[in-house]
Amino acid sequence: MLSQKTIDTVKATVPVLEVKGVEITTRFYAMLFEAHPELLNIFNHANQKQGRQQTALANTVYAAAVHIDQLEAIIPAVKKIAHKHRSLGVLPEHYPIVGEYLLKAIKDVLGDAATDDILNAWGEAYGVIADAFISIEKDMYDEASSIEGGWEGFKDFTIAKKEKESSLITSFYLKPVDSENLPEFMPGQYVTVRTQIPGDEYMLNRQYSLSTSYTPDYYRISVKKEAEMDPNGRVSTFLHEELTEGDTLELSVPVGDFFCNIHENQPLTLISGGVGITPMYTMLKSIAEKNTERPVTFIHAARNQDVRAFGEDVQETVSKLTNGKSYIVYEQEGLDGDFTGFINAEVLKQAANLDGDFFVCGPVPFMEAVIQSLTAIGIPAERINFEFFGPAMAIKTE
Ligand code: HEM
Repeated sequence: MLSQKTIDTVKATVPVLEVKGVEITTRFYAMLFEAHPELLNIFNHANQKQGRQQTALANTVYAAAVHIDQLEAIIPAVKKIAHKHRSLGVLPEHYPIVGEYLLKAIKDVLGDAATDDILNAWGEAYGVIADAFISIEKDMYDEASSIEGGWEGFKDFTIAKKEKESSLITSFYLKPVDSENLPEFMPGQYVTVRTQIPGDEYMLNRQYSLSTSYTPDYYRISVKKEAEMDPNGRVSTFLHEELTEGDTLELSVPVGDFFCNIHENQPLTLISGGVGITPMYTMLKSIAEKNTERPVTFIHAARNQDVRAFGEDVQETVSKLTNGKSYIVYEQEGLDGDFTGFINAEVLKQAANLDGDFFVCGPVPFMEAVIQSLTAIGIPAERINFEFFGPAMAIKTE
């Protein structure tokens, strides 16, 4: 238990740390990696370069600190992060290391303003926050090892097939090298793919949604080709251009809290932009295989026909549903879509199933626009589920 004095000190210093937040976490990462370069095998170097991870971690530590005397309030946020941690193999022994360098960074950036009282209070508070993460992650690790076919850490997979889905997106069919049956997953969940590019010193990790329904002998991911110069594009370029059928990759077990329960019956609208189609297609296909009576509407936005993936697959899958509909929204004029421009309140009023649940996935501006439109037409927040790719930074939904 933290003393009231510690709680008061932490809460009183949150605003100061918030102002210096990104500076502190940037300093923190520099010192952490200098002392523990092996952790570069876990962290996403592209997120580091873009400052995204710094912001995500800073926001979370301060959000946790504000709620330090009622940590239950942030448990849902902790769980989401814990899924990501688990897929990357973050372990209890990593937490004291992160805590040590976070405190050193606070001291470094605040200088004399960081008194011993303040540092001790933050040290204690970090310990409480870390314990919350460790205990949730322990439950997840225990659960993973009890699931049939599950594994700890990473497992080798062979690329059994590479299939082009559009000018930008290619699917990879990944079979476990040991030929064991794969564990089931919830439609919408993702895996971490770990690989080492020849000549690189460290492993690279990326998260990809599973892009088709469950089969015991392979998982499929579908990867968008990013610009090579984009730091985020290194793994995508490597997968697209260097790796071929027969090569191996390492995978974590599927994780994530963005998934739909396919056995429920309320109407569902799946809305995706660009490569955000991957978890949505998995949800659609899984429902079409197991619960054909469920009303499902699939709305997908693509810039044009060239970059649209799974076009025919979506049509074919929707036709298996008693009450399924699909719409395509092309951004460019003159194309043969159901709507032109962007998904907005008008499109949603005409196409979506307004009585049911919504799942939204795509780039951040897309999701902000869709969520705002859904809110504008009266859909309550508890019926809107969303996920985007990258560290969970704040999404503006109003
Ligand atoms: C991701 C917070 C401890 C490694 C994240 C994210 C947050 C976060 C907010 C972004 C989640 C997302 O992408 O959706 C925290 C907090 C911690 C903590 C508050 C301490 C209480 C750790 C530790 C490690 C770690 C001990 C391992 C050394 C990572 C990695 C990612 C991540 C590798 C993925 C993002 C990337 O690679 O850039 N964490 N974390 N974290 N965390 Fe933590």
